[in-house]
Amino acid sequence: MTSGGPNLKKIVAEKAVDDHVKDGMIVGLGTGSTAEYAVKRVGELIANGYDLKCVSTSQRTEDLAHSLGIKIYDLNDVERIDVTIDGADEVDPSRQLIKGLGGALLREKIVAAATLTEVIIVDETKIVDKLGVRTPLPVEVVPYGHKKTAYALERQGCKATLRMKGDDPFITDAGNYIYDCKFESIDSPFFLESRIDVIPGVVENGLFLNTADIVLISHPDGSVTKME
Ligand code: A5P
Repeated sequence: MTSGGPNLKKIVAEKAVDDHVKDGMIVGLGTGSTAEYAVKRVGELIANGYDLKCVSTSQRTEDLAHSLGIKIYDLNDVERIDVTIDGADEVDPSRQLIKGLGGALLREKIVAAATLTEVIIVDETKIVDKLGVRTPLPVEVVPYGHKKTAYALERQGCKATLRMKGDDPFITDAGNYIYDCKFESIDSPFFLESRIDVIPGVVENGLFLNTADIVLISHPDGSVTKME
C-alpha cells in the first residue's frame, strides 16, 4: 500500500469480485497479498447469503479462507471453476504473465487450467513491456538432483537461485523446491516455456501464457482499467 494513498491491492481485488463473482458460482481463490483482499471480499459475499463453492490455489489461501468461514472444496470434487481471481508478478501488453513469487505456481496453474474466466488483479507497477525484465521466473523442481536441474535451467540463459526460507530451501505445497531464474528479459516466452518444460526434474514454470482472460489494473488515482 502506498503510504497515504489508496490501497491499490484492495481496490482492484474488490472490483474483481464485485464485477465477476455471481451468486451460485464456483470460484477459484488466488494466492498472494493482492488475492487476499479478494478472498476477504468473497467471505463477505458468503456472509451476506451468496451460495459460492470455493477452490483454493494454496494452503496459505485455504488457511485464510477457513479463518473467514469459507469452506474449501477439493478441485476433484467440482465439475469446473466459473471464475478464478488471482494476482501476478508481471503482466506484458499481450496479457502474458509471470506468477509464482508467492510460491504457489503449481496449484495456481492447475486451477487456472480448470477455470472458465481467469481474472488477474494487479497494480500498475506489475505492467512491463517484456516479461522477465524486473522479476525472476520461478520454476518448481523436485528436490532430487535439483542442482543438476538448475544447471540445465541456466543453460537457457538465466541465473538460477534456489529460493530459501531462513537457512533451508523453501518448500512448496507439493513438497518441491523453487529456483528463481533471472533472465535479462524473456524475448520468446512460448519458446522458453517449451525448453524449460522438457528439463527432467522441472515440475512447473511460472510463465502463465494465454491464461489470463481479463487483467484488472489499479492506478495511483484509485481508478481501475481493464486489459482483455
Ligand atoms: C503466488 O504464487 C503468486 O503467483 C502471486 O499471485 C503473485 O506473486 C502476486 O502476489 P502479490 O499480489 O503478493 O504481489
